[in-house]
Amino acid sequence: MTEEDPIITSMAYLAASQDDVTPLLYERFVRRLPEAGAMMRHMDEHMLGRMMGDLLVLVMTPPDEIEPDYLAFEVSSHDAYGVRPEMFAPLLAVVRDAAREATGGYWNADTDAAWNARLQGICAAIDRVRAPV
Ligand code: HEM
Repeated sequence: MTEEDPIITSMAYLAASQDDVTPLLYERFVRRLPEAGAMMRHMDEHMLGRMMGDLLVLVMTPPDEIEPDYLAFEVSSHDAYGVRPEMFAPLLAVVRDAAREATGGYWNADTDAAWNARLQGICAAIDRVRAPV
């Protein structure tokens, strides 16, 4: 039997908790990092939906399976929008926190550890593809 992946299970709780997670993630991200709100004000629901969709896929991807060229493309295109690499971590934390709230009693120390390892892994992958400054 395949072992259950706590990230995928808690993401399924999150998906089941909302018709559309985009507004929730967007509002929380902007509350957490108001500077991002100013950068994202022009984005319509479709653009935001594509961004949040890609974000969720990224979070569900084990960091060693993330395509470095894809990540490098996102980091550099975002750099062109004025998004600094340090702004990715608070967005990832918003996804984790929303998933934690949606899972209720399912969340335990193992789930927490799996999420923290996942977010650290993604941030390390982002650091690896950052252009030298
Ligand atoms: C891993 C995290 C992220 C992923 C996967 C991601 C993905 C995307 C994608 C796919 C788009 C293009 C949407 C379209 O099809 O039009 C986009 C646009 C954008 N993203 Fe992100 N994004 C991430 C993080 C961030 C962060 C941290 C910010 C901080 C403010 C940000 C700000 C923006 C902005 C301002 C645009 C619009 C750019 C434009 O005007 O064309 N993103 N993002």
